[in-house]
Amino acid sequence: MMHRVHPRRYQMVLEMARRWHQTSLTTELIEHMDKKATWDRFYSETNSQHTNKFKNFEWFFGFDAVQDIILPLLKLPTDSDASVHILDMGCGTSALGPSIYKHTPWPVVVTCVDISPVAVKLMQEHTKRTPVKPQNPLSSLAFLELDCTRLKEHFRPQSLDLIVDKGTTDALLRSRDGQVKAGQILRQCLGVLRSTGSLIQLSDEDPDARILWLEKETFGTGEVAANVGVQEVGVLRGVCYYCYEITSRNSTL
Ligand SMILES: C[S@@+](CC[C@H](N)C(=O)[O-])C[C@H]1O[C@@H](n2cnc3c(N)ncnc32)[C@H](O)[C@@H]1O
Repeated sequence: MMHRVHPRRYQMVLEMARRWHQTSLTTELIEHMDKKATWDRFYSETNSQHTNKFKNFEWFFGFDAVQDIILPLLKLPTDSDASVHILDMGCGTSALGPSIYKHTPWPVVVTCVDISPVAVKLMQEHTKRTPVKPQNPLSSLAFLELDCTRLKEHFRPQSLDLIVDKGTTDALLRSRDGQVKAGQILRQCLGVLRSTGSLIQLSDEDPDARILWLEKETFGTGEVAANVGVQEVGVLRGVCYYCYEITSRNSTL
């Protein structure tokens, strides 16, 4: 099977590892970013050895870099009792989900999920110790251990307004055995997304490669139809980042 060789990603992983002097962790990350055990180790080691106190870890960049893209997607619900449902998929220990919860003026239900119970526990404990105050008192924030290849077992069909994926699909696509899982996750997302909703993938992968992959995975199977758009997020440390927006074309999904 062909793997996506991505020197910039390896450069990022190597830089992180140099910071923590963890060469065996680097090797594990390069090969197995689709594995729960790899991420458990990553979050355990980056939190216990080098910091006494919790610090959010951000893959690529934090909420500030993408708030102007994300917040306009969170439209005011037409039904006055309704909330906007948002999923941060593969949240790790990022502050993205809590920041959306904090900055959205209308009621939001933010669910941050990750396959790593270590990351989820760190976030649960951190938000318990340092609660985030939402702009809207009806908003809620939760962290949950969940394998996103099984999203449909947890979320009802067409129940989510926005799914944010910062680096999760990238991690799967670039691991030895992650390609199939990445496709499964994409199709699961489209199944739980409302017909008016959006899935956004924040990535450093070039549009030529990612759009082709998205089209192949969504159109090729005939299971799901989707529109794909892309915009640049910006350049950070010489790397260009993109926001891919995937919307359902099939309102009966
Ligand atoms: C590159 S990190 C990005 C973390 C976070 N989104 C950020 O921006 O810092 C990828 C994350 O995806 C999670 N992950 C990998 N496979 C997963 C799966 N099948 N289901 C849910 N989360 C997964 C990992 O545990 C890890 O936290």
